Amino acid sequence: MGCDCDRTHHRIRYTADRLSILPMRIAVLKERAVGESRVSATPETVKKFIALGAVVAVEPDAGAGASISDADYAAAGAEISKTAAKGADIVLGVQGPDIAALKGANSGAWIVAGLDPFGQRTRIDAYAAGGYEALAMEFMPRITRAQSMDILSSQSNLSGYKAVIEAAGQYGRAFPMMMTAAGTVSAAKCFVMGVGVAGLQAIATARRLGAQVSATDVRSATKEQIQSLGAKPIFVENVAGIEGEGAGGYATEMSAEYQKAQAELVSGHIAKQDIVITTALIPGRAAPRLITDAQIATMKPGSVIFDLAVAHGGNVEGSKPDQVIVKHGVKIIGFSNTATHLAADASALFSRNLYNFLSAFWDKETGRPVLDEEIGNAVRLTKGGKIVNERVVSG
Ligand code: NAI
Repeated sequence: MGCDCDRTHHRIRYTADRLSILPMRIAVLKERAVGESRVSATPETVKKFIALGAVVAVEPDAGAGASISDADYAAAGAEISKTAAKGADIVLGVQGPDIAALKGANSGAWIVAGLDPFGQRTRIDAYAAGGYEALAMEFMPRITRAQSMDILSSQSNLSGYKAVIEAAGQYGRAFPMMMTAAGTVSAAKCFVMGVGVAGLQAIATARRLGAQVSATDVRSATKEQIQSLGAKPIFVENVAGIEGEGAGGYATEMSAEYQKAQAELVSGHIAKQDIVITTALIPGRAAPRLITDAQIATMKPGSVIFDLAVAHGGNVEGSKPDQVIVKHGVKIIGFSNTATHLAADASALFSRNLYNFLSAFWDKETGRPVLDEEIGNAVRLTKGGKIVNERVVSG
């Protein structure tokens, strides 16, 4: 060894009269986190990786939670192997694999997954110490060309849908207005707080089910989006900082004056709602508290709140992951991992995000992906034994 070039050098095999490059080995691991049913590649993306010239090894049962059998992967051309990570150049995951699961992967191998960089700092340090190049897919920049690679969008969209379906399941009444011989059933009133990707899908889903929908956000740009989906915008007016939009289209933390005005507005509105879906997040911080216990007390018994931010500290006072909490007669629910409850669709979209990412940078000459600076520097957490991402260093 003793050279300073990148590891492609070591994968080149010299033959008598020509030089051939070993194909990239991509490993698809079975997710080990409790409650994680998704998988990071589907037979569709396996086929596409193979078409790029890669070899794909899949751990047995990797797709079981998403209703994909080992035979489906084998039919797509994958090797099914208990030691899939062995000799891998790229390891795919939904969540970041433990260091033990990477045993046998090549030195400098890429780990491509949702790595939870702020929550799993110890694991990220271990990736650095192991010499891996960890690429956190949730750090994908929000730029047009990266939309098809964005796991946060694809998973949030499904989560917004699932939140409404779950709330409807817990609600002891119907969503649509029904005029029957025995009398009229009135439409449910549904309020969506936070209108990003999940919130927009929640509005659309609640509308499809026949609810009367209203919604709010700190970003004034969402007002038109709410109206275009046939819902009513509920907005704080005439308070400084109403724009609420920071870097990359994400929300910023709001002023105390804004928070007070928002709380008053919400208090008046929430008392009349049957279903509330909260989705508000601020990257790198705890989720903002949007609903207090006192506000819950003003709601009608039998109402349901789904807190999509419950895994990030919660938007709703008293919400607990994966539990149904009843306070003042109101059911408060939320999943620690909402997308996993739609594992087949969530896996299909997640897998395409990973494929779109790697294939966009695939270098046909060397048969491996080569990232550009804008996206590479945004997602890369570790390289050459060190943490190289400013957001992780300062977070
Ligand atoms: P998110 O998951 O970070 O937050 C959800 C929503 O909560 C956001 O709309 C946010 O403004 C809102 N929120 C935060 N604090 C709040 C508060 N105190 N009260 C009420 N609402 C609050 O957001 P998400 O879904 O990731 O999207 C953020 C933006 O990024 C959107 O404009 C979206 O269209 C844009 N986007 C752009 C992409 C691209 O160009 N590649 C991909 C995905 C999203």
